Amino acid sequence: MNNIKGIIFDLDGVLVFTDHYHYLAWKKMADSINCYFDEIINNKLRGVSRMASLDIILENYKGIPFTKEEKEALAFKKNEIYKDLLKKMTPDDVSRDVRDTLAELRKRGYKLSVGSSSKNAKFILKQVDLIDSFDAISDGTNITNSKPDPEVFLKGASFLGLNPQECAVVEDAYAGIDAAKAGNMLAISIGDATSYDKSDIKLTKFSDLLLYFK
Ligand code: BG6
Ligand code: MG
Repeated sequence: MNNIKGIIFDLDGVLVFTDHYHYLAWKKMADSINCYFDEIINNKLRGVSRMASLDIILENYKGIPFTKEEKEALAFKKNEIYKDLLKKMTPDDVSRDVRDTLAELRKRGYKLSVGSSSKNAKFILKQVDLIDSFDAISDGTNITNSKPDPEVFLKGASFLGLNPQECAVVEDAYAGIDAAKAGNMLAISIGDATSYDKSDIKLTKFSDLLLYFK
């Protein structure tokens, strides 16, 4: 790992756990249009952009297809509900394991960035008091193509002033592991993504990063 100078972290499912808030907000939106939605469908939305998530949900919608404007209104409505739920987040939503590991990696000289598809990433990082733990933040507000496209990670690397080959990515989603590989980066999996054979390193817990990055 001695060529690695920067580590880029996915947010949802790696640093914090917002899946359930996404679920509750999408569920409310889906119920309002009588569209079937459950936690299994919600799991397919990990790492997927807001509008692409809506398209996946609407695969179960049996009514007259929505126009582009109507779809934007549905996504907006979901996001308003989601943002309200995010307000409940506090620094206690970040584990000691995550907080201490990030601090130690920085102490060891690694540059750290967030690489998240979410347009709410900065709001979440502020809520949980993690915003100052990173040298850069690449998120849904600075990309046109969502994971599995590597754009969010390539921007993260460039915000850190590093080449992609000098960066590792930590991800919990298959789409994120694909994005890291497409960007020519070391792909490290945690959680669900550890069952994906494309990941280069599998973590049992977040602090295992300290075993690889000395
Ligand atoms: C990702 C989540 O981090 O962000 C996805 O894993 C979500 O589930 C995506 O759809 C976009 O989030 P937001 O906050 O911009 O709607
Ligand atoms: Mg994730």
